[in-house]
Amino acid sequence: SAQLILWAVIGYGLGSIPFGMILAKVMGLGNLRDIGSGNIGATNVLRTGNKSAAALTLLFDGGKGAAAVLVARAFAGEDAVQIAALAAFVGHCFPVWLGFKGGKGVATFLGIWLALAWPVGVACCLTWLVGAGLSRISSMGALCAAAGSTLWAVGLGYGTNLILGIVLTLLVYWRHSANISRIRAGTEPKIGSKS
Ligand code: G3P
Repeated sequence: SAQLILWAVIGYGLGSIPFGMILAKVMGLGNLRDIGSGNIGATNVLRTGNKSAAALTLLFDGGKGAAAVLVARAFAGEDAVQIAALAAFVGHCFPVWLGFKGGKGVATFLGIWLALAWPVGVACCLTWLVGAGLSRISSMGALCAAAGSTLWAVGLGYGTNLILGIVLTLLVYWRHSANISRIRAGTEPKIGSKS
């Protein structure tokens, strides 16, 4: 319906704001495309050496995913929530403002889950911390959290979000294909290393 299209546009609009790119520019850290992986996310912002900028990127990229869910939930039904959440994720990964070359959606994914079903969100954040903590690799944390999300959703009683969860998980894995290749080759950089 027209209403769902509207929520898709609102979700996309929120998700497509490239906070990492904006913060790096405003804080004088340079162009993220020329740094590390070239990605626009918090992990790559951290490679500039500025921890505050990385933390803010994580917060805002997560916040826009949460905002899409909360705004849709406040003004529309559960269908709109699912559409807005997916659209926010897609907006982050394919922002029109950056020629559709966006990020990998991890912070936005976590923000979406925290707003959608906070116990699942918390479980995903903890899964990220364990995966990244053991490997010292950010993308490994992301892959663990994404895979874990569907299990947590079912296990914690939020199976109504399972389809959305599976779609987001597949998108996270797809967006990490270069990272997966590097992990397999043993060349994926550790968190905080400049390369
Ligand atoms: O948030 C994306 C993260 O999982 C990997 O980022 O810059 O190491 O490709 P990056």
